[in-house]
Amino acid sequence: MKKKGFIFDLDGVIVDTAKYHFLAWQRLAKGLDIDFTEEENEQLKGVSRVRSLEKILAWGNKTISQDLFNELMGKKNEEYLSFIAEMDTNEILPDVPRVLNILKENNQPISLGSASKNARTILERVNLISSFDAIVDGNDVSKAKPDPEVFLIAAKEINIKPEDCIVFEDSVAGVTAANTANMISIGIGSKDVLGHANYVFNDFTEISDDFIKSLIEN
Ligand code: BG6
Ligand code: MG
Repeated sequence: MKKKGFIFDLDGVIVDTAKYHFLAWQRLAKGLDIDFTEEENEQLKGVSRVRSLEKILAWGNKTISQDLFNELMGKKNEEYLSFIAEMDTNEILPDVPRVLNILKENNQPISLGSASKNARTILERVNLISSFDAIVDGNDVSKAKPDPEVFLIAAKEINIKPEDCIVFEDSVAGVTAANTANMISIGIGSKDVLGHANYVFNDFTEISDDFIKSLIEN
């Protein structure tokens, strides 16, 4: 049996945490008198925490001191973590466990490649931490997606060459990062948004066992 490296993004691929990021950012924006819409939140998918706050401030035409910036980052994360604390296995997106299982049954190494600094906490909440052979997250990288750094480290940690890796991603920046890393990119979401991925599925229920097996064999 061939060995490929399967790399999963977390937010929007394994769990739908975008709604919690939105609630926390929205409260913060409100406090600054900035209107923050769900469409704008879409543009924050895959974007680091620092860059997200910079974008929100730019949309609201606000400049703030570095001290306030740091304080707001802390507050946002505190509120976000209060939502995360309530998460359980019910929040795993449909058919993610099936795909993880088929990879495990076929002895395929599995990595996480996420921009989030809360990745381990979330994986623990939904009881999936032991499904991963390696976890690479926002604490391990210096360059954010669309830079391929996170995926290249994720591949290295499982000892698989980048060209033998397959990445599951829901964000535009993440698909670009996977493509730049010379990996096969599988977009999870809409074709209109993720048209630059090698394959696109609305969600994991559309990904058959045979398709996963064909990725392993080819
Ligand atoms: C990404 C999310 O996975 O992680 C972004 O899509 C988020 O919305 C980023 O800003 C950083 O997450 P965290 O948990 O470190 O604030
Ligand atoms: Mg994501």
